[in-house]
Amino acid sequence: MTQNPIPVIAIDGPSASGKGTVAQRVAQALGFHYLDSGAIYRLTALAAQQQGVSWSDEDAVSSTAQYLDVVFNGETILLAGVDVSNTIRSEEIGSGASQIAALPKVRAALLARQQAFANAPGLVADGRDMASVVFPVAPLKIFLTASASARAERRYKQLITRGEGADLAVITADLEARDERDRARAVAPLAQANDAYLLDTTEMGIDAAVAQVLLWWSQRK
Ligand code: DC
Repeated sequence: MTQNPIPVIAIDGPSASGKGTVAQRVAQALGFHYLDSGAIYRLTALAAQQQGVSWSDEDAVSSTAQYLDVVFNGETILLAGVDVSNTIRSEEIGSGASQIAALPKVRAALLARQQAFANAPGLVADGRDMASVVFPVAPLKIFLTASASARAERRYKQLITRGEGADLAVITADLEARDERDRARAVAPLAQANDAYLLDTTEMGIDAAVAQVLLWWSQRK
């Protein structure tokens, strides 16, 4: 008897679109596991930095990726036993993650690690290539986005709430540079898959976005 594959909801989209929050809330509502694939790219960038490896050295970064010593424990992420949950959220590491994510060998080294998150009863995975590469047979695929100005505004408010200094013009420029790099790269670029629903949250709150995903899930064929 063949087993049913683990159901996966793939949510892709650009930086600061709110996909992480929506994905986590959907996972909670369904009792599914959650994969923040961006965190894995951020961890690789941080580990490379700690090892003195340049973010442009494809062979060395892919080796770092392959041997990444990571433990996900709810909200806490340990790298080689050290809590790096906050460290990986910095703008610097976000930019490093986007740079190493453009390297094909690094993406290949991280593929199985991401797929291993698909466990019963199901998984909600967020990233850039969940629908196209990591979980191509996911029964529900969503491309979650918002206008660049709405996303910059959200990131700005997030940083201010955390007590970090923030400049809206700098954030907007960083966000646009990151989007451009994620969209333009040769491997697994950020794009809406043909069979993905588009969810534009520019004028939509989190609750409405979560409700829409759950509705699509209940209506899936
Ligand atoms: O979602 P995030 O901002 O934490 O992701 C950080 C970077 O990692 C992002 O700029 C692009 C890259 N990334 C990717 O290439 N593929 C994924 N599935 C997730 C993230």
